[in-house]
Amino acid sequence: MKALVLSGGAGTRLRPITHTSAKQLVPVANKPILFYGLEAIAAADIVEVGMIVGETAKEIEQAVGDGSDFGLKVTYIPQSAPLGLAHAVLIAREFLGDDDFVMYLGDNFVFGGITDLVDEFRKDKPDAQILLTRVPDPTAFGVAVLDEKGQVVGLEEKPERPRSDLAVVGVYLFTPGVHEAVRSIEVSPRGELEITDAIQWMIDRQHDVRSTVISGYWKDTGNVTDMLEVNRTLLEGLEPRIEGFVDAESEIIGRVRIDAGAEVRGSRIVGPVVIGPGSVVVDSYVGPSTSIAENCLIRNSEIEFSIVLRDSSFDSIRRIEASLIGRNVTVTLSPRVPATHRLVIGDHGRVQISS
Ligand code: TTP
Repeated sequence: MKALVLSGGAGTRLRPITHTSAKQLVPVANKPILFYGLEAIAAADIVEVGMIVGETAKEIEQAVGDGSDFGLKVTYIPQSAPLGLAHAVLIAREFLGDDDFVMYLGDNFVFGGITDLVDEFRKDKPDAQILLTRVPDPTAFGVAVLDEKGQVVGLEEKPERPRSDLAVVGVYLFTPGVHEAVRSIEVSPRGELEITDAIQWMIDRQHDVRSTVISGYWKDTGNVTDMLEVNRTLLEGLEPRIEGFVDAESEIIGRVRIDAGAEVRGSRIVGPVVIGPGSVVVDSYVGPSTSIAENCLIRNSEIEFSIVLRDSSFDSIRRIEASLIGRNVTVTLSPRVPATHRLVIGDHGRVQISS
């Protein structure tokens, strides 16, 4: 069994972060979201991984390498443009050969991994198996309709009037039967080869398409809110560990990881919080569900429920909440006169000012 991991795409919903970096590499709890997927694949005893890459190919290759750090063997498959999930299967034909495979969306997060699902598929061998989860608003997802035996009888992509509340999760299992399906379908109105259309094609031809409704946690981290939510969930399971320096004036409460080379002085850290190597927190408050990556500086500031990427700094700012801060960002207080907001913000940036 092989894995096909999708790490191309445009990442429009995570701009401006994705102008300069791949969305699959945005860290949650200080580790790229993609790495959790690769670990889940390795844990399911899969070794050969085809990695679909687009414009950000170089960055993904730099981060993942040959996959040996994860116990995987990674083959890169360039995709000329994000032409759809079924297009990714189409161009991976040679890599996939006649093996069964799991298709995993590189920016998705499945809490608890995929081992049980993969084992069930290995045992029962349906033509395809999809994962479903109940969501409050199915209009933003691929939606499945099941018969009374749990067999999938229909799929719709982002329907205006959904026929169920079962959203398709970004992990799919296929036998080689899917290849004929992806070759046979037409490009959708939004210009993509949709995997939902390929699966519908299989259903229409009486292929055995099954589903598992997961009760656990799943998130597509396509937008900032979901990203912060995954970060919060992961930090809840954080193993507390203080390897960096904490001075006597500081107070550390709850699950907190302070990596080697980090420094906390005169500050109050209320977990769950992770502070990456080389980061310095001085005279500040860092509140729950915050991940601070490496080489950041938080001085005389307050921050909570946020993700801060590497090399960024805050000086005399209160209070930052529910924010995703990119790399190398500087936020400082303006001088008293004139008390103005001075901003240098990239395309598609979003700023909320409290006064
Ligand atoms: P999406 O989130 O559906 O698409 P996107 O990356 O274009 O994002 P946005 O909607 O914000 O513009 O993609 C799911 C995952 O699959 C993501 O990791 C990117 C990847 N992908 C590909 O590798 N190739 C593709 O053709 C598509 C559509 C997505």
